[in-house]
Amino acid sequence: MGDTLADKNQAYWNHASHFVFKDKWIGGIQSQISEFLTGNIDWIGVRLPTGDNERQTKLMDYACGNGIVSRSLHHLFSKCIGIDLSDGMLDEYRATAAELGLDNSRMSAVQGNLLAPTVTPTTPPLSKEELDGFDLVAICMALHHVEDIALATKRLAERLRPGGVLLIIDWAARDMSDEPEQQASVQIIPSSSEDHHNHHHHHHHHMHDGIDPKHPAAHTISHTNFSRDQIFSLFEQAGCGESRFVLADRLSPVPGARGGQMQLFWARATKL
Ligand SMILES: C[S@@+](CC[C@H](N)C(=O)[O-])C[C@H]1O[C@@H](n2cnc3c(N)ncnc32)[C@H](O)[C@@H]1O
Repeated sequence: MGDTLADKNQAYWNHASHFVFKDKWIGGIQSQISEFLTGNIDWIGVRLPTGDNERQTKLMDYACGNGIVSRSLHHLFSKCIGIDLSDGMLDEYRATAAELGLDNSRMSAVQGNLLAPTVTPTTPPLSKEELDGFDLVAICMALHHVEDIALATKRLAERLRPGGVLLIIDWAARDMSDEPEQQASVQIIPSSSEDHHNHHHHHHHHMHDGIDPKHPAAHTISHTNFSRDQIFSLFEQAGCGESRFVLADRLSPVPGARGGQMQLFWARATKL
């Protein structure tokens, strides 16, 4: 096995794909995400052809896992393509397609990493046309597993047609300085934590969510969470505008998180 963060993710998710979606808290987060997506299609703002325009419409579900984004939005598109590092996850994605009754021409999965400095061919290989011109590219609960988030966002935006939408769903940075309950729980995290993202968490005035470094997936995570400004700047650097960012209206229970809960966000931008 190699030593990059992608290698660690591939090994971990191949192992975890068999059980992770059976966890109740993961199921809860997936329902919350799906509920938001299906209820806010106008907010996502994909402009799809109307009338006689017969062109194909495409969704890329990047780092697809079992395909929660495709499950929620497939009805808007002629085709969904799921891409993931992990073959185990691609099996889960294919199982979702089978459950939805969608054949290969409507929902298919390929193994690959499009976010690396050198983009390697997918397995099976897709043509340039197949990998380009998406109406929607989504990365759901996976940007926090990627080392170079600016490069990754740029790579994903490159897959969009002009006017296409980039959708990022992930954990939001929360300032918890006003939440005494959360402050108390910081004590369970060792202050000698190796997780460099925790380094500013020792100040009580600017405390944010964190992941217990002993969590089994801790070594696969590059960023604990993202702020609105950070996401907007990623969108801008990737050549996208009309950015929008929405925080979840309720916290999600996350075992292994500081305080036991985290807050989702949904963010979208249009490729200019
Ligand atoms: C927490 S899961 C999220 C899966 C799914 N999108 C969801 O929201 O349920 C993270 C996924 O990202 C994938 N992943 C991590 N880094 C990746 C990369 N560089 N390229 C492609 N997939 C990646 C993992 O294999 C795993 O399936």
